Amino acid sequence: MRRIFIIINIFFLNALALSAQTKKPESDIDKKVDALIAKMTLEEKVGQMTEVTSDVVSTTTNGVHEIDAEKIKEAILKYHVGSILNVSGHAYDRKHWYEVISTIQAEAAKDRLKIPVIYGIDAIHGVTYTTGSTLFPQEIAMAATFNKEIAHKAGEITAYETRASYIPWNYSPVLDLGKSPLWPRIYETFGEDPYLIKTMGASIITGYQGNDVGDKYHVAACMKHYLGYGDPLSGKDRTPAWIPDRYMREYFLPPFAEAVKAGARTLMINSGEINGVPIHASKYMLTDVLRGELHFDGIAVSDWRDIEYLHDRHHIAATQKEAVMIAVNAGVDMSMVPYEYSFYNYLVELVNEGKVPMSRINEAVHRILKVKYQLGLFDRPVGNPDDYPKFGSDEFSQVSLNAATEAITLLKNNNYILPLKKDIKVFVTGPTANTMRSLDGGWSYTWQGEQSDLFAAGKNTILKAIQQKIGKDNVSYEPGASFDSLKNVDDAIKAAKNSDVIVLCLGELSYTENVGNIDDLNLPAAQTQLALELAKTGKPVILVLAEGRPRIVTAAESKSAATVMTYFSGNEGGDALANILFGDANPSGRLPVTYPRYANALVNYYRKNLENGNSDDQHGYNPLYEFGYGLSYTTFSYNNLHISKPDLKDGETLTITVDVKNTGQREGKESVLLYISELYASIAPDTKRLRGFDKIDLQAGETKTVTFKITPKDIAFVNDVSKTVTEAGEFKIQLGDQTQSFNYISNTVPSRTGKL
Ligand code: BGC
Repeated sequence: MRRIFIIINIFFLNALALSAQTKKPESDIDKKVDALIAKMTLEEKVGQMTEVTSDVVSTTTNGVHEIDAEKIKEAILKYHVGSILNVSGHAYDRKHWYEVISTIQAEAAKDRLKIPVIYGIDAIHGVTYTTGSTLFPQEIAMAATFNKEIAHKAGEITAYETRASYIPWNYSPVLDLGKSPLWPRIYETFGEDPYLIKTMGASIITGYQGNDVGDKYHVAACMKHYLGYGDPLSGKDRTPAWIPDRYMREYFLPPFAEAVKAGARTLMINSGEINGVPIHASKYMLTDVLRGELHFDGIAVSDWRDIEYLHDRHHIAATQKEAVMIAVNAGVDMSMVPYEYSFYNYLVELVNEGKVPMSRINEAVHRILKVKYQLGLFDRPVGNPDDYPKFGSDEFSQVSLNAATEAITLLKNNNYILPLKKDIKVFVTGPTANTMRSLDGGWSYTWQGEQSDLFAAGKNTILKAIQQKIGKDNVSYEPGASFDSLKNVDDAIKAAKNSDVIVLCLGELSYTENVGNIDDLNLPAAQTQLALELAKTGKPVILVLAEGRPRIVTAAESKSAATVMTYFSGNEGGDALANILFGDANPSGRLPVTYPRYANALVNYYRKNLENGNSDDQHGYNPLYEFGYGLSYTTFSYNNLHISKPDLKDGETLTITVDVKNTGQREGKESVLLYISELYASIAPDTKRLRGFDKIDLQAGETKTVTFKITPKDIAFVNDVSKTVTEAGEFKIQLGDQTQSFNYISNTVPSRTGKL
């Protein structure tokens, strides 16, 4: 009875909050938007909801791209298009971007109401489509830094360089849960843990948007892909997922809720279908949860062609027109159409036929125009080229270098073989050793990143960085294998025998989305074979894994003396690795995903107790490396774990402190990870969950006290009626090798047994 009362109460409070929100006094921008909407025709409104890709308004002749006068006229003056995205082909220089954006905005100024176009781009690890930009490590590597400040700084610089490219809208960050290691977009995520994702996500969003998203150095963030994209059943991109509502709220939703709180102005929708319902058709997800519960008031844009796909792929709409009706009524504000104007034509018809209410159109257009005002586009549709002297500067690339250095994760270091001395002979080999593709990954200069060696020719691959570090004469190189076949292995073996140490670079080339689908998580056999052949030389192997997801490397890895994970670490990744290998930097990255040992044993660290295995079952949780794992060249000890009280009660805060000491010989950074486990709960509790982290820098011998504050809300979970509750009971804290227990005692929420 009591439980029902509480639930009803929660619903009532939600409803109150919602009505309070709708009654919020209108801001000046809202008033301007309303006044503009009052002047708009249906066609002009629907145009604002239409987003087309650059190709629709461009001509490219002999590789020379330009905005086509007739096509842009048609887009703006006939269809009143509100938004354009992407590039035609590959990255442009800043000068070309200026021409592109100026031409588009000049056309917009000729339309009756002179509404500026909002241009969007995937600047997901720096401005991917502007030559000379600063390319950072991909999100997976950013997560490995466990450093919120670095994520924030990278966000600020990316925003600066995006505006320097005259673009105000960034389709980033990805806040998807990187749950299935097969999924080709793992590297675009902040890893598998909801707390890590939400913390890094909020940091990068505030970097993108600053205090005033409308100033000349900030851009609108676009949290994506709402919701449940990261765990397709098959591991293949844009294939069905089955995710119960409770799980959705426990693991997938929190990063988006946090991003809304951080002020993210826009959101992109997941192209997949969950429990058979495409998210683009889900009123529950797009309106009830997103607006009603999260109170998001920005733009919800579809992903690429996803309204069309409700008909073509998902088969939930019998016609394209029905697809438009379903999506817009569900809550899609803008359609990334992106190739033609049928969305526009159908939507005008649907409103005239009364199948989509004008109120829904006004709501969507209000959100779009509001963001355009907030971005300052009405006053400044094109930026000033002279305002961005730091674009592509050394100052910015230093931040990227620092990020890569803090990301790279040392997984094994037998007999302290690393760091290497600089006066030795090194043999560098493997398919990822001499290509920028394995440092930058996808979304680098092109969608698939396949031209990074051309566009980032001035940057150092792993091979070049090692050559620079210890001198060309000390380095020999043979690829040994391409991504999936052996290449002159005999030459590689010969060169290995003449060296003191082998740096074997395995992993992946660049890819994204469906192009990156795989049928097997194992690294291609040729790469393993190369590793095994080289191991036979008896020379120590330093295994470098340059890859976007944790491919199975167990056989190759069993032969290595040291193992280093570089992820896709960006344009400075080669230098960062060389600094680490030769001791000019001390590694401090930690795995933001579980590194599986076997291709069919894919369990995330926040597993259930049942997945741990027992004495009769030797097949329980046994990854190659656990989430959060990572070594340093120094050592740290944890002491004096202290909690402020043995019992945590409603409305109280528990203060947790621990002393961390650098017990080694050199300065080092340590990610201090706070795990909490609930011992018993009405829903089988996860074995442990990350509930806080901090990154500290310690001189040799130095000790710092790290403090965390925990409230009952921070240890809550989603129960069997999809409500977030904290049940009374015992909790265990783990910090390094230290543990402590406390009890949560509640006067309001029933315990697991239903008793207070
Ligand atoms: C991707 C999005 C991206 C969009 C625009 C889609 O295919 O799923 O992440 O923002 O394209 O480039």
